[in-house]
Amino acid sequence: MKSLKKLLALSAAAAVLMSMAGCGSKTESGTGDTGSASVSTVSEGKLIWATNAEFEPYEYREGDQVVGIDADISAYIAEQLGLEAQCEDMAFDSIIAAVQSGKADMGIAGMTIEEDRLENVDFSTPYTDAGQVIIVKEDSPIKTPADLAGKTIAVQSGTTGDTYATDNVDGATVDRYSKGAEAVMAVLQNKADAVIIDNRPANAYVEKNPGLIILDEPLTVEQYAIAVKKGNTALLNEINRILAEMEENGKMAEIMAKYLGGNEDLSEAAE
Ligand code: ARG
Repeated sequence: MKSLKKLLALSAAAAVLMSMAGCGSKTESGTGDTGSASVSTVSEGKLIWATNAEFEPYEYREGDQVVGIDADISAYIAEQLGLEAQCEDMAFDSIIAAVQSGKADMGIAGMTIEEDRLENVDFSTPYTDAGQVIIVKEDSPIKTPADLAGKTIAVQSGTTGDTYATDNVDGATVDRYSKGAEAVMAVLQNKADAVIIDNRPANAYVEKNPGLIILDEPLTVEQYAIAVKKGNTALLNEINRILAEMEENGKMAEIMAKYLGGNEDLSEAAE
């Protein structure tokens, strides 16, 4: 089994096929590698990862494929376990339930480690840092977080941006959308005054929509990790082992550079 795993790790063809695995389309395996998994998963031979593919650069659609940092991390983990990565794309606030109920093996969705969530799932070691930021129109009177008081804030439902707006902004009206893009649209259409969303997706939105800016001051410091069913230590240990390996062998930095290249200081991104 060890040598098979090594073989898989060395197989560039397998890596390419795995990284192409996505939602909504069947991928050919071509490697003939079945039954080599060292952990049991929800569906034999597969590693099903639940996500919400509305969150560039972590997960988003390119044609019928889900691509992004989390897609590549999932593909790598699956490959190391001798499994085929299969994506289940769903509403962000359904991911934890999908992991709990055994619909998916893991949730990976730019998901922040949170105390409330720890009651329902276990989290891996963090793989990157993030923070909530404020997006406004260029000419907005909102210049600092304090200016959010009493304003209408658009968020993606069930996210830490939602929690922040709901719990920390005095007198705000919080408008919840199922997609981050819809929250951004609300500001562009003057239905909301600001969006609170994660920093890297915010960059992606602002790049695509002229007239929007991100305020300098981040609101939170967060860490993203992979969620597994509570008590599934067999899978959690393997995920943690592979994440540590990815930090060591440069794979994580390579994935970050692939999706963040040019957009930020990669020494920071790889931390
Ligand atoms: N980091 C935030 C959270 O955990 C937002 C994540 C949203 N992810 C997504 N794929 N839509 O709540």
